[in-house]
Amino acid sequence: MPSHLQSDELVFFVNGKKVTEKNADPEVNLLSYLRKNRTKYACGGGGCGACTVMVSKYDLLSKKIRHYAATACLLPICSLYGAAVTTVEGIGSTRTRIHPVQERIAKGHGTQCGFCTPGMVMSLYTLLRNHPEPSPEQLTEALGGNLCRCTGYRSILESSKTFCAESNCCQMKGTGKCCLDEEENQTSSSHQKNDKICTQLYAKEEFQPLDPTQDLIFPPELLRMAEDPNKETLTFYGERITWISPVTLKELLELKVKYPKSPLVVGNTSVGPAMKFQGHFHPILLSPARISELSMVTNTNDGLTIGAGCSLDQVKQILTDEVSKLPEEKTRTYQALLKHLKSLAGQQIRNMASLGGHVMSRHGYSDLNPILAAGNATLNLVSKEGRRQIPLNEHFLAGLPNADLKPEEILESVHIPHSEKWEFVVAFRQAQCQQNALPDVNCGMRVLFKECTDTIAGLGLFYGGIRSTTVSAHRSCQQLLGRDWNTLILDEAFRLILDEISPPASAPGGMVEFKRTLIVSFFFKFYLEVLQGLKKIIKMTSIPNSHRYPDISEKFLSALEEFPVTISRGVQEFQRVDPNQPPHDPVGRPILHQSGIKHATGEATFCDDLPVVDKELFLALVTSTRAHAKIISIDASEALGLPGVVDVITAEDIPGTNGTDDDKLLAVDEVLCVGHITCAVVAESEVYAKRAAEKVKIIYQDQEPVIFTTKDAIRHNSYLCSEKKLEQGNVEEAFENADQIIEGEMHVGGQEHFYMETQRVLVVPKAEDKEMEIFVSTQDPSHVQKTVSSTLNIPINRITCHVKRVGGGFGGKVSKPAVYGAIAAVAANKTGRPIRLVLDRREDMLTKGGRHPLFAKYKVGFMNNGRIKAMDIECYINGGCTLDDSELVIEYLILKLENAYKINNLRFLGRACKTNLASNTAFRGFGFPQGGLLMESCITAVATKCGLPPEKIREKNMYKRVDKTIYKQAYSPDKLIRCWNECLDKSSYHTRKAKVEDFNSKNYWKKKGIAIVPMKFSVGFGVTSYHQAAALVHIYTDGSVLVTHGGSELGQGIHTKMLQIASRELKIPMSYMHFCETNTATVPNTIATAASIGADVNGKAVQNACQILLKRLEPIIKKNPEGTWEDWVKAAFEKRISLSATGYFRGYKANMDWEKGEGDPFPYYVEGAACSEVEIDCLTGAHKNIRTDIVMDASCSINPAIDIGQIEGSFIQGLGLYTIEELKYSPEGVLHSQGPDEYKIPSVTDIPEEFNVSLLTSSENPMAIYSSKGLGESGMFLGCSVFFAISDAVTAARKERGLTEDFMLNSPATPERIRMACTDRFTEMIPIDDAKTFKPWSIPIA
Ligand SMILES: Cc1cc2nc3c(=O)[nH]c(=O)nc-3n(C[C@H](O)[C@H](O)[C@H](O)COP(=O)(O)OP(=O)(O)OC[C@H]3O[C@@H](n4cnc5c(N)ncnc54)[C@H](O)[C@@H]3O)c2cc1C
Ligand code: FES
Ligand code: FES
Repeated sequence: MPSHLQSDELVFFVNGKKVTEKNADPEVNLLSYLRKNRTKYACGGGGCGACTVMVSKYDLLSKKIRHYAATACLLPICSLYGAAVTTVEGIGSTRTRIHPVQERIAKGHGTQCGFCTPGMVMSLYTLLRNHPEPSPEQLTEALGGNLCRCTGYRSILESSKTFCAESNCCQMKGTGKCCLDEEENQTSSSHQKNDKICTQLYAKEEFQPLDPTQDLIFPPELLRMAEDPNKETLTFYGERITWISPVTLKELLELKVKYPKSPLVVGNTSVGPAMKFQGHFHPILLSPARISELSMVTNTNDGLTIGAGCSLDQVKQILTDEVSKLPEEKTRTYQALLKHLKSLAGQQIRNMASLGGHVMSRHGYSDLNPILAAGNATLNLVSKEGRRQIPLNEHFLAGLPNADLKPEEILESVHIPHSEKWEFVVAFRQAQCQQNALPDVNCGMRVLFKECTDTIAGLGLFYGGIRSTTVSAHRSCQQLLGRDWNTLILDEAFRLILDEISPPASAPGGMVEFKRTLIVSFFFKFYLEVLQGLKKIIKMTSIPNSHRYPDISEKFLSALEEFPVTISRGVQEFQRVDPNQPPHDPVGRPILHQSGIKHATGEATFCDDLPVVDKELFLALVTSTRAHAKIISIDASEALGLPGVVDVITAEDIPGTNGTDDDKLLAVDEVLCVGHITCAVVAESEVYAKRAAEKVKIIYQDQEPVIFTTKDAIRHNSYLCSEKKLEQGNVEEAFENADQIIEGEMHVGGQEHFYMETQRVLVVPKAEDKEMEIFVSTQDPSHVQKTVSSTLNIPINRITCHVKRVGGGFGGKVSKPAVYGAIAAVAANKTGRPIRLVLDRREDMLTKGGRHPLFAKYKVGFMNNGRIKAMDIECYINGGCTLDDSELVIEYLILKLENAYKINNLRFLGRACKTNLASNTAFRGFGFPQGGLLMESCITAVATKCGLPPEKIREKNMYKRVDKTIYKQAYSPDKLIRCWNECLDKSSYHTRKAKVEDFNSKNYWKKKGIAIVPMKFSVGFGVTSYHQAAALVHIYTDGSVLVTHGGSELGQGIHTKMLQIASRELKIPMSYMHFCETNTATVPNTIATAASIGADVNGKAVQNACQILLKRLEPIIKKNPEGTWEDWVKAAFEKRISLSATGYFRGYKANMDWEKGEGDPFPYYVEGAACSEVEIDCLTGAHKNIRTDIVMDASCSINPAIDIGQIEGSFIQGLGLYTIEELKYSPEGVLHSQGPDEYKIPSVTDIPEEFNVSLLTSSENPMAIYSSKGLGESGMFLGCSVFFAISDAVTAARKERGLTEDFMLNSPATPERIRMACTDRFTEMIPIDDAKTFKPWSIPIA
């Protein structure tokens, strides 16, 4: 802070308590400020909703209090003057009383890792504060900005729906069709009631009612402050930035003259991310929040004038109101705006972002500017000199100086005129997924006709997503004036528009051909929609020559229907426990996650929730900007000279070993990928550390070769390990005898873990004996411990790793936390002070790697009846620059590749390619999701060739009896066949398939698809030493029991299951049990919690410990059989019987001889099947997930709620992998996808409208505890049923267009791939650039 200037006091309330900040820093956002309050950081850019809080402000104009959800990571604290903030701990806690929202999300099993939960709770709480009985649509909107990577959302929605007004209709169709219509819904009939089956995962009747008296009141002091007539300009001086908040428009305009370059910060959703992520810097920020002129709304004769300071959500409400009051013909622009306002960003951003900020940001992707421009909106400007108006047209959008604001001017309001009777305004948008995703392309289009004719009198076409700002097809519009609105203009219009605004071949954002196609497809939709509109007017008016308007056949009308945003529903079926099971025995019951309530109240502590430790320092990583280069020098002098910087850590500071020769913790001499960690800065705060990290100068000399793609790696013979091969039968001979052979290639993209809690670690060095305490978010604490030990060259016994809980892992926290932990430990060792390292989302995605992309070549020989005789498949995974888990991944991929099929002649070859990308690592399913998709694609290709339905080919080739797998392990397919048949039945597959065909015959631009896939998934590590676990169980003298084991809680409910097991074994209720943390000092030498066997092996160890203890207690119990547990424990203590026991499980002996290609690598299999139905829009590539039915064998589930949660969550993660999630790399190997803006994971509206899961009944698994099964990973693969349903729909479209059905859809089936596969006259007319003539924005690396 400039020392001579005195800041004003910042006054606001947090959870009912007054906060007075004397030195508020404008650079500090509410999230950093609240970190002590446990609001969660997950992305920092407003894109995930983890940090959602409720902001309440008194609005002087309406004299009402406005409550709205906001993302704390984008709220500067200075913007909160006079506001009341409510966070998750402000609405309820276990110490006082939990709030019904917290109760319902937790008890409805809507939490797994719990990291997203406080944000979810706050979004829902805010909704209820405004609408105590929300509609399902309001619910979906409110949760649309909150991402959850674990649950798959169904459980969250289900429990949230209990707040909606009771309705007999599920409203699932969103189109007025109801689930109660039997024709529409076969769920009730196929999911039959049965004594053995239970469908109730929680008791709704136990929920507390919503009680508004529990809510905090708006502080009266803030009311007084708002109404104070003597308010004054506030100024907050930070270290680098000053924030000025004037009270009157006059003052603001004077300030604008004084600081013409300073931005007006309203929602900060544009300025904030630019300052955070793009290095923009503004020494002065002006806040117009207290100026009421900017919030005025005025109705005029010809339209509506909306204050620039109104939030986008307020704009939505204002427009909704207008649409309900005015005749339809006047509101066409408003309706178009409303359409986009529903899908633009998440609710939190719509609450914060202002209309003025949106217009003035002029983002190329802006969803509103194209419509405002098309609708002839004008901008009302004001400055000290007076007021004037400018049109919001292409010149303004292009930022031309004579069409723009002058530096001293501000935007006061936006005038949006009414539309006219013969005028139509229409908008379209296509994004990677339905909601909360920036558009790939959008548009606002307007046409005005000469009265009572179809002659174009005015035309405006504005497109977004094409260039850096909205573009106008102005010339094309001019040329089309005077033309009639019929098919004759179409081709000419397409050509003109493409010529005028086609994105260049190397345009940022890529997808150039797709975008070009959308440009024309949107125009075509516009044409049809206007034609419909004209026909409607003509119907109402008697117009001569009405025959001039061409009819649109029913079949083509589907082009106009938008996919409705609907709320998911479904049935979850599982086996009821035996009625004779004692009531206190919790095994087999849907017990609530042990931390569920704490997740929902925010009391659950994650690594970075640990309070600041005395003398703590912060670490920031410095990463390579080159893909393959020699390090010539590292110059940290400038960084070291910055305030707050303590040290810079390089490889030279490592006292022990620096990783391995091929995989160093800190780079030495050479970097192997962009994102390679070179050194790290230690500073007094996170901000100082990050600022200094940017100032470390590294000189590189680029090296050859630079390899990014699998094909390049094959060319350079660049591999990470030896090839893996399995073969059975006589492949060559079988090919010779086959009726037909198909050959081809397939690409499956990678995947980012996107756990909500980024990697983080806190290392606390001790004063004595080089001891170190490490608090880390990891799936493998022993690996962190060992790595730190070898890095510091101190014995393992000095290092203790603690894992309380992990905010999602999915494989990404198996090997990588050891790297971050060891680097932090080096810093702690060197400085002697505690070190905290919290990766921001960008660093996390850049440095950690993810799922291996796959490139495969296949050759399949088969008979005309669909029987597959032979397969020869080569798989190449992109492993990145170091080995990590790539050898295991390619081994598992090959071992699991056959999936559910018994094919006698097989040859599978696998290679892990070494490339100059961040090293890929373990990820849920470990290669199987990629390999399984490939196998199913081959099956689908065979079906196409044979002209048979894919399910027939699947059935024909599926295991039918006990047989040997390709690696000669015996396999019995009973459960596979049961799952398959039950899935066919429960999904009413055949009836619905006929309906899909019927729909397709009636609709040209929309197609439905349905697919069913079987699954055989092998569980466990193929390594014997990984099949072991230990547990430590203590009974204390009051009878309470402390259970500890070697597994980490990742959200999969392992601790809950362990307590259920201990409860059954010790024969006492779960209320006696407690689990504290996973800790390498209590249970040493743990194995990674992965491969779906965490609960299997640790459960057996807990069981063993409990059995030992019970045996010790037996003589005492025998002596006093009527005694209580407490009596027996007390007696045992007095008799000097140890009440503590270690349990151990020596598990499965896995073996695999790769020389011979045989072994018994896996203890058992999980079987399942899934059927999915989708609808695609052939013109845009969008798709809607209509219904999914999953049948899975969980055998005797220990906890059906947890197991169903795992199935649903992994299925939705698989759906993401196969249809939405796409990592993009530049030709220089830079990962473009560095956060939720660029990398989409499924959100609440992406899940199937109907989502049913059922677990097989009467099934056993002797290999695992209580005959259960590990279900952590398998559901992931079943997500591919959606992929094949899409493929089915695309095939239908292609067939109708007379195209060869012989096509291979690569994964993910994004809107781009779907659209481009539905080849038609539009895809054929777009210009295609010669690949040799330009440098693309991104390159495919699979
Ligand atoms: C996570 C996320 C998702 C998003 N998704 C979408 C999306 O799907 N579609 C989409 O279109 N947009 C999207 N956006 C962008 C969003 O719409 C804009 O950031 C927002 O509208 C800007 O408004 P603001 O009030 O936050 O602007 P601020 O960041 O406060 O200001 C932005 C700019 O506007 C100027 N400004 C503001 N008010 C005035 C005024 N009265 N007079 C003169 N200048 C002014 C400021 O000087 C500044 O330069 C997203 C943003 C985020 C963070
Ligand atoms: S939205 Fe704030 S952390 Fe993601
Ligand atoms: S429970 Fe939602 S992210 Fe883990």
